[in-house]
Amino acid sequence: METVVSGIRPTGNLHLGNYFGAVKSFLQMQNEYKCLFFIADWHSLTTRPKPENIVNSAHTILSEYLACGIDPEKATIYIQSDVKEVLELYLFLNMNAYLGEMERCTTFKEKARKQPNNVNAGLLTYPTLMAADILIHKAVKVPVGKDQEQNMEMARKFANRFNTIYGVDFFPIPQSFSLSDKAVKIPGLDGSGKMGKSEGNCIYLMDDAETIRKKVMKAVTDSGPTTPNSEKPEVIQNLFTLMEVVSSKETYNYFDEKWNDCSIRYGDLKKQLASDIAAFNQPIRERILQYAADTDYLNKVAKEGAEKARESAQATIKEVRKIIGFK
Ligand code: TYM
Repeated sequence: METVVSGIRPTGNLHLGNYFGAVKSFLQMQNEYKCLFFIADWHSLTTRPKPENIVNSAHTILSEYLACGIDPEKATIYIQSDVKEVLELYLFLNMNAYLGEMERCTTFKEKARKQPNNVNAGLLTYPTLMAADILIHKAVKVPVGKDQEQNMEMARKFANRFNTIYGVDFFPIPQSFSLSDKAVKIPGLDGSGKMGKSEGNCIYLMDDAETIRKKVMKAVTDSGPTTPNSEKPEVIQNLFTLMEVVSSKETYNYFDEKWNDCSIRYGDLKKQLASDIAAFNQPIRERILQYAADTDYLNKVAKEGAEKARESAQATIKEVRKIIGFK
């Protein structure tokens, strides 16, 4: 059976971008593949979180994974830092990662610009750690959103390079996976592009109806269409993109027609969108609160997941050591 791996950094709560970019695929894939979904706590160290936040954040994402419907009976759910074999592979892959190519990664350049006083080696080698996460289980499919495309390109490069250097056909070449035919990008409502934690424009799965209403009503719009059937400007398209994922087809078509005949009222659209997001969130939110209160269960899931993930990682690293020459 083909292996699927993916992870999310525990730097706050899950937002709609995480859900529709990644988690929704996890839910479908856990029924068809050997799946391992993890919490990328080492990756979050590039921004120096407080020690007390590390365990809490991992537990937060764990409750949210479970509340979304990731099933520990079907998929392996684990915390990255419980599987030390990943670090050994990270080291091996780093020996064949070149400074120039790492410095050219757009995510590195963006992060370096955002935190000029902390351009650390972990930031530079972020793509090798991500490749190690994937290759340690010899995964072939990786459900991720559009923003991870370059990291995935690097993971393929490292897998190919390892195979070439050692003259083996050991690592499969991992591909991004998306439920639709193109990679998902959930926009923010501030007109700044994608919804993201560092963009500060997120609607979280934990947000209640009132919080969502306030966020949606504040969304940037324009003065409205003047020509029938015109193309939507980005800020308006963003609202429609969200509507496409949380609202019914009828609702979407209703507002699309209103756009096309220039009778749209953005206030109505926002009210509907806010109410549909709240309805989407509500059952997930309730389950998050239930799981978050059950620390024993969360610890049990993490412990069992770590055991299964370690078993898979140990099998790979043993072979890798042999290939490299450590007998
Ligand atoms: P992270 O934690 O930033 O995001 C987790 C997942 O959510 C997706 N995502 C989005 N998708 C669509 N629209 C958005 N606005 C949006 N925002 C976030 C991301 O594409 C991602 O799939 N480097 C990764 C974590 C990671 C990982 C891995 C992923 C570490 N190792 C190995 C896969 C495999 C990250 O920072 O994701």
